[in-house]
Amino acid sequence: MTAKVRHELAAEIDHPRWRAALEAVPRELFVGDNVFHPDARGWVPVHRSKMSPEDWLALIYSDQSLVTQVAGVLAEDAGEPIANVWATSSSTLPSLVVRMLDTAGISEGDKVLEIGTGTGYSTALMCHRLGSGAVTSIEFDPAVAGRAKTALTAAGYAPTLVQGDGLDGFDRNAPYDRLLATCAVRTIPLRWLRQVRPGGTITTPLLGWIGAGALAHLQVADDGTASGTFPEVVYFQPARPHAAPPMGMMKLGVGDASHTTMDPALLNDETGQFVAQLAAPHAQHVWVESTLALHDVESGSHADVEPADSSGWVVHQYGPNRLWDAVERALASWLDAGKPHQSAFTLTVTPERQWVSLDVGGSGSLRWNLPA
Ligand SMILES: C[S@@+](CC[C@H](N)C(=O)[O-])C[C@H]1O[C@@H](n2cnc3c(N)ncnc32)[C@H](O)[C@@H]1O
Repeated sequence: MTAKVRHELAAEIDHPRWRAALEAVPRELFVGDNVFHPDARGWVPVHRSKMSPEDWLALIYSDQSLVTQVAGVLAEDAGEPIANVWATSSSTLPSLVVRMLDTAGISEGDKVLEIGTGTGYSTALMCHRLGSGAVTSIEFDPAVAGRAKTALTAAGYAPTLVQGDGLDGFDRNAPYDRLLATCAVRTIPLRWLRQVRPGGTITTPLLGWIGAGALAHLQVADDGTASGTFPEVVYFQPARPHAAPPMGMMKLGVGDASHTTMDPALLNDETGQFVAQLAAPHAQHVWVESTLALHDVESGSHADVEPADSSGWVVHQYGPNRLWDAVERALASWLDAGKPHQSAFTLTVTPERQWVSLDVGGSGSLRWNLPA
């Protein structure tokens, strides 16, 4: 039964180079006996005994992310539903894991550093294909790291497992051919750059505080810089030290008032949100009914944009940075450039600076620095 559903999932994903690994790695071992299900109450812990064995296996081998930890609480330790928080660990949907392994170009002979072991499922797929000796994986959370180690050992894999902050990389096994993160960063840690060999690659989700996600795929150059593109839009849990601070209280409708004809709903477009995030990298956003609020906790800067009349929106801003003005300028340049998709942007990382740019043809390029 288990082998059958596993083969069905592998057939559904249908990736020639990862199919054998998908057929071999028992996902049920990595997920364990408990997951969180989202419903109106928040994250509800579900034990496998609450489902028939067939339904449980169907869930394990469905192509979806299975959340195993919320707000630092493992599903097996949770009694009540947990409301209003982000998941902190999960087994990512297998088709996305495989797409990321493929984007990273991981193949036989590569030495790989994974950031975000999580359940250990993606680590196991790599161990199956490359051999355990080629894989190092780092997990921030001690309880999650412990679970993953138990599961990997039970499945017969013995990669180097490190419990710590993956933003530091793991110098002892460097240089790596491929670095793949399954948690999201705001900026590329320079240690990653130093631990990947020239010609090697860094593949990582980016997630800024406005909430725009992207998969960055970079090649490291001989001079220790890296550059690349955003082949896919992905949303991953933030690397814990890169998570946004709590937004706290804010006042709407106060500060300097102005008028705009730039529609704030552009932030509901994935690239529009990405551009806004580049322009105001320390801001977070929230919709209060039809009013957009941008808030930067660190500097105390704030902007809100409220529908005024058929001719536009009224803007209120206070604090040292004019958040909406910066976002509006960036959105206007992006619209002038023909509203290109995020996949047209590039990322360059040097030891001194990191920037995203967009080539706008004859008139040059637009450029935004990632937060230091
Ligand atoms: C989406 S899960 C990983 C999925 C996993 N690769 C799998 O297939 O099951 C993201 C993981 O990254 C971990 N994480 C977050 N910040 C981290 C950091 N700074 N260093 C290492 N791991 C981190 C989280 O604790 C979480 O377990």
